[in-house]
Order: sequence, then structure tokens, then C-alpha cells
Amino acid sequence: MKLFGHIKSASGLALVALVTVSSGFLQPTPASAKTAAAQPAILTAAAVAVPDRYSADTAERIFNEGGNAVDAAVAIAFTLAVTYPEAGNIGGGGFMTLYVDGKPYFLDYRERAPLAATKNMYLDDKGEVVPGMSLVGYRAVGVPGTVDGMWQAQRRFGKLKWKQVLAPAIHYAQDGFEVSEKLQARRDAAAKSFAGKTNFDTYFGNLKQGVNFTQPDLAAVLERIAQQGAKDFYTGKTADLIAASMRGHGLITKADLAQYKAAWREPVQAEWRGYRVITAPPPSSGGIGLVQLLKMKADLAPDFKGVSLNSPQYVHLLAEIEKRVFADRAQYLGDPDFYNVPVAQLIDDAYVARRAGEVNPNAPSDTTSVQAGLGTSMPEKAETTHFSVVDKWGNAVSNTYTLNGPFGAGVVVDRAGIVLNDEMDDFSAKPGAANMFGVVGSDANAIEPKKRPLSSMTPTILTRDGKVALVIGTPGGSRIFTSIFQVINNLYDYEMPLPDALAAMRFHHQLLPANTIFWEPYKPIDGELAKQIEAKGYTLSGQGFNGDIQVIRIDGDKPEPAADPRGRGVARVVK
Ligand code: GLY
Repeated sequence: MKLFGHIKSASGLALVALVTVSSGFLQPTPASAKTAAAQPAILTAAAVAVPDRYSADTAERIFNEGGNAVDAAVAIAFTLAVTYPEAGNIGGGGFMTLYVDGKPYFLDYRERAPLAATKNMYLDDKGEVVPGMSLVGYRAVGVPGTVDGMWQAQRRFGKLKWKQVLAPAIHYAQDGFEVSEKLQARRDAAAKSFAGKTNFDTYFGNLKQGVNFTQPDLAAVLERIAQQGAKDFYTGKTADLIAASMRGHGLITKADLAQYKAAWREPVQAEWRGYRVITAPPPSSGGIGLVQLLKMKADLAPDFKGVSLNSPQYVHLLAEIEKRVFADRAQYLGDPDFYNVPVAQLIDDAYVARRAGEVNPNAPSDTTSVQAGLGTSMPEKAETTHFSVVDKWGNAVSNTYTLNGPFGAGVVVDRAGIVLNDEMDDFSAKPGAANMFGVVGSDANAIEPKKRPLSSMTPTILTRDGKVALVIGTPGGSRIFTSIFQVINNLYDYEMPLPDALAAMRFHHQLLPANTIFWEPYKPIDGELAKQIEAKGYTLSGQGFNGDIQVIRIDGDKPEPAADPRGRGVARVVK
């Protein structure tokens, strides 16, 4: 940690200023100044990798109407708010990484803490975190950003009319969609944690496999947003309904909603093996984490030489790298509008090389010599969702958005059907105490009014020679950037075909709990491998979920989309 303090004091503020663009900068251009349609097609087709079949149909419809990647992305996001209600949302927030007309952009529409939020709002009289208080119910909700994010993205870069991109979502809300087995399973699991505490079952009690599920209240909200734009959600009738639901229960008021603004920021960018990695800046920890992982592994090429994928030595080396990344995450990351996150230093080649030099290739490093805080682990949940989009003009959108836990706080806005997030849990309720992903944070991520909680969402685009080469992202909380890293690594270092790179077993380590390697149900660890990893000094722990990656690789002029076999996603090429 001393090492980093030295780097920070050298030039922290000046460098940070280069990478942080605060809210309000680069306002969206009016619709009349949108991207010109005259761009030549450079790909044989458009493509999407999305978390369900309804959003794939939506994307196809939008492309057939002449929409570009941004139109498709916005239409997908609204559709998933209806058909993928455990994570798709208009009551949450997220991040969008874009590559449009050969230029990178990043849109932060993360939720913000309400004006009445306080640093200790989840602590009891003794200063201890009240279990569940930041996870379930009205007080767990951050001010939602998705509608303003979609509005700003589509206004700035979309080609179609705003109403056109809302139409598919309105159709699914009004006319219904067929509930899948996986969606019912998620509903049933979530309903148990909300039972007797929220109004979840009033809206989602009938979300059962095979049912044609309609959401008339939500359809009315989407119709108003289609007519009036984002202002309905932030200052109009929908804002009234949200504030009325909160009154006497939660903190969000009409003033909170009226003040919300998504922020255009500079993406984190890094050169890696001939590719430009374009990824999420703070308030995500994910982009910095991903770049550190990629660079540290490259620095350790001699140690990885001859090490086969997912062998005990491979898992050990990855865990050593991840230990250091999570130590930095806990100490240095938070909302850049409140805290000078030293982005440039954290991904600086020399700094990362020094961190790689601390890796012990033979045995796990002592956790206490690396860690930045103490905490306990809580079970990982399946939450958040991601989609990847490219159009035939070579534009790309990588979008991850979330309600945090499945169905967020379990609270549904009365007479609006909007599921609200539990994103307040991503703050450090008490520096040093773990959140639901078992990760700890420092004062950089303490609760303050209007602040955005630290995230791990990592929507990422790789370009080569100025052209999109890969669009990738996933849900998974603190597993997000370690999952993306492993798939990129499988593709480029181990040269696996895309479906195999996605399906391969994934592991996760995050500093705490000490020397614990998480494995996943999709490819359970076998007995011999387990014994060998344990013999290296690790404890193995099963987890319920390890991502739902949606990825598009572009080979020459052909997009190859792929959906993670772990989820109910769909990959589709649209000619
Ligand atoms: N709520 C999960 C994340 O933002 O990473």
C-alpha cells in the first residue's frame, strides 16, 4: 500500500482530471444533429448477443427498421425491463460503452444516493451494519438512472424516432410474453427473501412458467415515456408515482428524481497485445480491474509459459493476480465526482509490472500483506444483465445494467409496476465491512447524498486498427471483470473458438475470504483438480453463479455473436 501512496502523491490530481468528466459535460446533441445515415456498411450484418429471446426479436425489428447499434441497444434495454424483470430495468442503472463512427464513448447512468442519505444510515446504535437493510425494501433504493441514460444515448447517436425504440417494450408489457422456467426459478428464489417485507408478490406472484405475463401499469409508464421522453420519469406523472410509493417508507423524493442526470465520461483505455481495450471508468471498478488483470498476466508470461488452462498452477497464478487487483479496488475506488480516483496510476504499465513482481509463483501470498480491509463473504447472487450489439456500419454498444440483487429491493412502484433497485448495498455501509458480494470498501465508497456507489460492471469493447474486434460483458457483481478476463484470455492467449472460450470453467478469487477459490455450478470442479488446488493452500468454495457473458467477436467483416450457455441468452446475426 505504501507503494501506491507514493505514486498517488506524485501526480494524482492532474492525471485524474484527464480521465474524469463530470456530469453535464458533453450534453447530448439535439435529435437533428444525430449521426448521419451516410456511413458506409463495413460488416456483412448486424449482430446481437442478448440475455433473452424477446430482446433478440426487438433488436431484429429495430435493425430492420433502419436503426443503428444505439437504437437497438436502447430498444433492448427497455424490452428487458419487461421480459427480464429480475435485472433488466427502468428502476435501476448501469453503464454503456459505445464505439460510434470510430470514436469511443462512455455513458454512466448509475443510480445515485438520495439527498437524504447519510453515511451511517445502515448502522445500528452500536455502529454495526443492520443485516439486509441495504438489500431489501424502500430504504435500499438508489435514484434510478436507466431512463435518462437511454434518453441521452438515443438522442445523441440514434437514427430512429424515440417512440420507435420504445414500441417493442410497450408491446411486451401490454400483450405479454411467455414466462420461461429460468425466470420462474429466479422469481421463486427472490420471493422467499422478500416474503412479508415488500409488495413484490402483488406484481410478480403470477410470474409462472408458461403464463402469458402482462404488465399493464408498466405499459402505461412506457407509453408515457415514449410520448414525453425521460422527463415523464424524472418530473412527470411517473415521478409522482415513485415519490408517492416512497413516502413514509424510503428516502427518494421528487427533488431527487428532478436532479438526476446521467454522465458522459471518458472510458478507461489501454493498449494490450495490439488491441485497444475500451472499458468502464469509475464509478466502476471493473475497467481498471480488467486492465490490471490483462496487463499483469502479460507481465507474468514467463510464469504462465507451458501452464495449461484451468490447471492448479493456472488457478494459483490467477488468484495471485486477483488478490492484488481486489486490494486496489477496496482502497482506491469510488465515485469520481466525489473522490479523486487515481485511474491513470492504477493502470500505469510500470505500476502494474511492480504489482506483478509481487506475485509468488510457488505459493499463495499472505493475504494480510496484500489486503486493504477485513470482511466476510456472503453468497454470490445472480443479478445484473448485459447485452452486446454491433451494426453493419461498424458501431458497437456494450451495455451492462442492474437492479443489484435479483428483482432489486423487491419493491415495486404502486400503479407503475417499476421494480426498484437495491443499489445502496454497493456503497460501503461501514468501511471494512463486506457487501453482498463479499467485497469490502474504504471511505472512497462511503455513502454521501448524490454519490454513485462503486460498481463492478465492465461493459467492454476491444478495437484493432480502429475497428471493433470484440464486444463483451456480463453480470456477476465482483465476478464480472474476472469472468470477462478469463474469456478474453481463453480467446486470445489460448486461441479457443468463441463457444469453447465462453463455456470453459471459470474460477474467481477476490482477496477475501483469504485464499478462497470460488468455482461454479456450470462446470463443477472435479475431485482430482480440487485436491491439487487445495494442496497449494487454497480453500474451495462453490457459488451459485459465475456470469452470463454476451459477446460478439468480429472476424474480418463478419460478426460472430455468442451467448453464455449458463443463461437463457440468444445470439443472433441480422442481415
Ligand atoms: N450491483 C452490481 C454492480 O454494480 O457491480
